[in-house]
Amino acid sequence: MTRRQWLLSTAGCAGLAGGYSTVVEPRWLEVVRTGVRVEGGQRGTVRLLQLTDLHASWAVPWSLIDNAVTLGLAARPDIICLTGDFVTHRGDLDGGRYAGILRRLSAAAPAFAVLGNHDGGSWAAARRGYADHRVVERILEDGGIALLHNRWVEVPVRDSAVTLVGVGDLWSEELEADRAFRGVSGAGPRVLLSHNPDSKTALEGFAWDLMLCGHTHGGQVMIPFQGARYAPVEDRRYVSGLNAFDGRWIYTSRGVGNLGSVRFRCRPEVTVIELS
Ligand SMILES: [Fe+2]
Repeated sequence: MTRRQWLLSTAGCAGLAGGYSTVVEPRWLEVVRTGVRVEGGQRGTVRLLQLTDLHASWAVPWSLIDNAVTLGLAARPDIICLTGDFVTHRGDLDGGRYAGILRRLSAAAPAFAVLGNHDGGSWAAARRGYADHRVVERILEDGGIALLHNRWVEVPVRDSAVTLVGVGDLWSEELEADRAFRGVSGAGPRVLLSHNPDSKTALEGFAWDLMLCGHTHGGQVMIPFQGARYAPVEDRRYVSGLNAFDGRWIYTSRGVGNLGSVRFRCRPEVTVIELS
């Protein structure tokens, strides 16, 4: 091979990899199905749909969020859980369009959400985000999604129930575990919604069976032989997937959206969990 041929082939490979990681993979959704067994009074199986880190922004087209909803609803979930980072930065956001997409979820099953670090508050305000949650809260409300901001709810499912506990975001310094779990007495397994898996330390003294998280985007760019390029967590054991913690489970989804319109070896994820 001549030097010219080598340069051309190298440039071609780089171009293909760049195109794949910025155009193809960020929109190539994968439905990930996971089974989780927990102790509890509930009989049978409850199907949870988790969507997280939608990150509506220039980097995430509405069609991707809409497709994630379509794929998730095809699993016929009993309960829908949204675990934060609905937006990336403050700015012109078509809230009506967003709410319309979310209403497809709430029309199909009881749907609940917690907020992420990008959804407004002290962390977001310092990084081109909203100073408070009002914009995202309005979108959720219009979309029929119940916000579990440091509170719990019991969700009936057929002849059984699941207790959902939702907490505020760790980085936004809004995680109030005592408040979220106060008076919790619901039947069935306890599923905790918390945006950031690092919050497990603040939550380990409370009774829950399964925690659903996002935040990491699964690493977003997985460099061969190196692993996650972007994973803003202290504990790298919980960057993605189902992992044990202190006799219970944490599921960290890779999420639907992204930052910067790039993913490599880390496809966006729609999560379906069979809780039995
Ligand atoms: Fe995120």
